[in-house]
Amino acid sequence: MRELEVEMKRAVERVFSAVERHHELFKNALPMIASENITSVAVRNMLISDFSHRYAEGDVGRRFYQGCAFIDEVEAIAIDLAKRLFSAEHVNLKPTSGVNANIAVILALTDVGDRIMALSVPDGGHISHSKFSAPQIRGLHVDNLPFDSTEMNIDAARMHEDIIEKKPRMILLGASLFLFPHPVREAAEAAREVGARVVYDGSHVLGLIAGRRFQDPLREGADVIVSSTHKTFPGPQGALILCGEDLRSRIDMAVFPGTVSNHHLHHVAGLAVAIAEMMCFGEAYASQTIANAKALARHLHENGFNVLCAHKGFTASHQVAVDVSELGGGSYVAMKLEKANIIVNKNMLPSDRTPENPSGIRIGVQELTRIGMKEREMAEIAAMMRRVIIDEENIDKVKKDVSALREGFQHVHFSFDAVQNGVNAYDFPVHFNIDAFQH
Ligand SMILES: Cc1ncc(COP(=O)(O)O)c(C=O)c1O
Repeated sequence: MRELEVEMKRAVERVFSAVERHHELFKNALPMIASENITSVAVRNMLISDFSHRYAEGDVGRRFYQGCAFIDEVEAIAIDLAKRLFSAEHVNLKPTSGVNANIAVILALTDVGDRIMALSVPDGGHISHSKFSAPQIRGLHVDNLPFDSTEMNIDAARMHEDIIEKKPRMILLGASLFLFPHPVREAAEAAREVGARVVYDGSHVLGLIAGRRFQDPLREGADVIVSSTHKTFPGPQGALILCGEDLRSRIDMAVFPGTVSNHHLHHVAGLAVAIAEMMCFGEAYASQTIANAKALARHLHENGFNVLCAHKGFTASHQVAVDVSELGGGSYVAMKLEKANIIVNKNMLPSDRTPENPSGIRIGVQELTRIGMKEREMAEIAAMMRRVIIDEENIDKVKKDVSALREGFQHVHFSFDAVQNGVNAYDFPVHFNIDAFQH
């Protein structure tokens, strides 16, 4: 073999090995990043299909390339199922990520120099809602929505006054730190008075909306839902936009050709399967997710953690927010928990002014719910977190207990995998005989 080939063979071996070690890590860990989930094996089969190599610019039945007959069939099914699941008049499944979808909606609904309103990042807004990001493209002026940090929600009365006074073109609801349903009805009422549009970024809570356990933004008055498809919604990474017929052509044009050329067809196939799974199991999944979040929050509180919003049941979503400023700060706590294979992220809280070592950690229980964990396991996890952070017990001991807990939870529930009696979600093959490399 030539020297370069030997070097490349080693590089590929290292890639395979790192992926296998990653699987091994996640088989033994408690993944609680609120923006992640685990797809079923049925969904993952779509992601490695030939759809991942193809182009299908354009719409179903009106493509710019040949060879799209079966891609058309799949995309038509995905669109039909999404419309049914969300009771939406129109759906666009092409955006390749939540940020991509936000940019498309901003292009569709604003003109250069318009005003919009959104949450600031410390109050939970996503970076793509801030003046440093997507709104820059249009030179938009971004005003922060007023936030009540005790209630951890938008202050609806002040929002109404601000909308009437500032007359924004667009009001962007939804958040990355998202504990309670947002006041969509109130925003829509004020928006009507000034001719603004209400856009709801449901990236975090789409699975709970699909399961009818959070809020129903389109019925509450939102004009558009924009959302990732892979946080509480357990689909492949990507995004969708839901809206009424009135906005159909503006949204579609802003997506293609505005911000996407070829959409990711394997993700559309995976999304179709994930939507079908949510049609069957979504309500039970969303109920258990919220019950688990409430249980974890209560047990953390009882174990001495400063969990936000004790006065209102801690949370109504998949997320739990904990102020760890007295315990070393969010960066320190998240990194220490990682040593025990408890995976969470540091998070800014409303009182934070800079993102360095923020006061909080954010915890999501949606993936633990998908692998079958319930309230009993939430109690165990809260106790383990106490052992690491408050009792400062030997981390390797806790890590072993984390592994032992995980042993019984290796299959994806609320999916067609479960119906097939469980395929181990982490033994999904990364098989390839590197020694069979040929010219
Ligand atoms: C509210 C919100 N919107 C948009 C995004 C961006 O989504 P994506 O990572 O799919 O681009 C996120 C990501 O975490 C988010 O929390």
